[in-house]
Amino acid sequence: MTELLKKRLFIKTYGCQMNVHDSERMADVLRPLGYALTDRPDHADLVVLNTCHIREKATEKVYSELGRVKVLKAARAEQGSTMIVAVAGCVAQAEGAEIMNRQTAVDLVIGPQSYHRLPELIARAHRSRGERLAADFEAEEKFDLLPMDRRPDGVTAFLTVQEGCDRFCTFCVVPYTRGAEFSRPAAAIEAEARRLVDKGVREITLLGQNVNAYHNDDGGGLAGLIRRLARIPGLARLRYTTSHPADMDEALIAAHGEVEVLMPYLHLPVQSGSDRILKAMNRAHTVDSYRRTIDRVRAARPDIALSCDFIVGFPGETDADFEASMTLIRDVGYASAFSFKYSRRPGTPAAAMAGQVDDAVKSERLAELQALLEAQQRRFNAGQIGRALPVLFEKPGRHSGQIIGRSPYLQAVHCQGSVDLIGRIESVRIFDSAHNSLTGLRTPVVADEPAGEIA
Ligand code: SAH
Ligand code: SF4
Ligand code: F3S
Repeated sequence: MTELLKKRLFIKTYGCQMNVHDSERMADVLRPLGYALTDRPDHADLVVLNTCHIREKATEKVYSELGRVKVLKAARAEQGSTMIVAVAGCVAQAEGAEIMNRQTAVDLVIGPQSYHRLPELIARAHRSRGERLAADFEAEEKFDLLPMDRRPDGVTAFLTVQEGCDRFCTFCVVPYTRGAEFSRPAAAIEAEARRLVDKGVREITLLGQNVNAYHNDDGGGLAGLIRRLARIPGLARLRYTTSHPADMDEALIAAHGEVEVLMPYLHLPVQSGSDRILKAMNRAHTVDSYRRTIDRVRAARPDIALSCDFIVGFPGETDADFEASMTLIRDVGYASAFSFKYSRRPGTPAAAMAGQVDDAVKSERLAELQALLEAQQRRFNAGQIGRALPVLFEKPGRHSGQIIGRSPYLQAVHCQGSVDLIGRIESVRIFDSAHNSLTGLRTPVVADEPAGEIA
């Protein structure tokens, strides 16, 4: 009977892990109102699109999805039921009321700092077409007001420690959509981490748009926070993302060598291998300072897997600038990386720069860069063959009797095993590798490294 009273919520998430995490929090805030998640938008009483504004394509996707949602909403209206359509996330923050003008199916628009107000705004949307826009920047209020009762849906979880960005890279919308940098107090983060671990979480990824700029009351920065969380009994693995090279301080580098639960994986976007371009991007680091940082990180943790973001075709990028990026990639050697064609974002300084690069040139450069990065990723994965790795099992695989976990280096690892293994860390001997995953056999042999991590 109670099931019938339940309202159904469909959330579609675009963009970065911060959005993935925010979508979970929106589900948390709506659960007490009777909303249960569904994966069928046509059955939903409430549809939330949690949007991304980072590149033009990401924004366009939202408008085409809204076109489809409009049809579903009309079909429900014909059956005598309603569907509330909410646009959340970075497009909501950047475009605000304009979304409602462009797509009439939208009932409310809510920016990332206002999710605690969702219940109130949904009630209003039901009652009238009153206040439908919430897009302010009260980050502190958001963290205080979101429910504490998170329901993790697995053994790994994201935990937001920092939001916003003050760096203003000239290509990027994030400082405009997410606002100024804000770090949560360490005690609140630790309390949330403990609650997650109590609910069965074994691995936590600390999230922030510029996470290594995290600063707190006790002055310990991200390294201090990591050391504090590492003491939580039952927490087996810690990760953090995304970092800026200029904020990679000595304390954090040292933590990579000393904190056992801190996984040997670092996503440290450089964007370009040319100093001229880095300067035009306002990146606040040079190619040389980045290389020296990588050297120090590798000295602290020799097996660390490095990941990166690259942009090709930034305004003014010449063949020589592009070649400098290729050289940097060859020299560093990445375990994985993301790469993008520069996308001109309205309102950002780079959008108005001279020397915009032709799309055909961007495509050519991207293909060349991605071929190199893919070869490196395959090589890194193949390098694990024969090793025994500690794998945290996360979920059943697609085939029966198969289970999927992750290596310390964030690689997906497939092997035979029962679902009882979920949440456990066991040693897996790797015998095969592909572009995106490894395959292995569980082994009674203790894993090679990192030592002491076997549950
Ligand atoms: N805070 C993170 C993530 C920013 S967005 C960071 O500083 O790395 C993720 C990636 O998207 C960026 O690293 C960059 O490579 C890419 N990106 C951001 N704006 C872009 C744009 N206008 N065009 C193409 N790629 C972009
Ligand atoms: Fe964007 Fe630069 Fe901030 Fe990253 S550091 S979020 S790329 S402005
Ligand atoms: Fe996109 Fe906003 Fe994340 S623009 S990448 S969803 S911070």
